[in-house]
Order: sequence, then structure tokens, then C-alpha cells
Amino acid sequence: MKEGKPLRLTVTVCVGSSCHIKGAREVINQFNQLLNDNDLQDKVELKGSFCMERCGKGINWHIDEEPITSSNSEEAIELFKEKIIRPLKSD
Ligand code: FES
Repeated sequence: MKEGKPLRLTVTVCVGSSCHIKGAREVINQFNQLLNDNDLQDKVELKGSFCMERCGKGINWHIDEEPITSSNSEEAIELFKEKIIRPLKSD
């Protein structure tokens, strides 16, 4: 039997000091809340990481290997809804 696409995505948020100051902790809390609210905890692994060496540009995070920079927590949360919550909900 062929395997479909992997069930689990990994979302990694930088918790280094520059991203922390811009709201990375709030982003992690909100991502976590959204996963709980939508019952998607088993489909998305949420992790923190040390500095991703892209400081100063915003809050840095990854969806699997894709690097993302959001200028503030609201922008990160909107993108998370668009790229993670909506597609997984419609699976
Ligand atoms: S602190 Fe986040 S990229 Fe450096």
C-alpha cells in the first residue's frame, strides 16, 4: 500500500531573544490554542527553537522546512490559520 502525504506537520517557532521580544511566545500560545480549538494537536507538532539567525526581520518560524518571517504576532497567526488550520480542517 502506498503512503499518502505525511500526517504530521512540524511548526517551529524561534524563541531566541529578538523573536521573543517581537512576540514569539504569544505566537506559540495562540498556535497551540488554535490547534486545540480545532482538534488538530495530533496533526501538527509545535516546537520552539534557538535563534534561526534571521533576527531583526520579525518573528521567524518554519512550517516543516519552509522559512517564514512575520512582522508581528497577528500576521503570524493569520498565516498559520491560512496555511495550517484551513487546509487541515478541510482534509
Ligand atoms: S532570535 Fe529569532 S532569528 Fe534570531
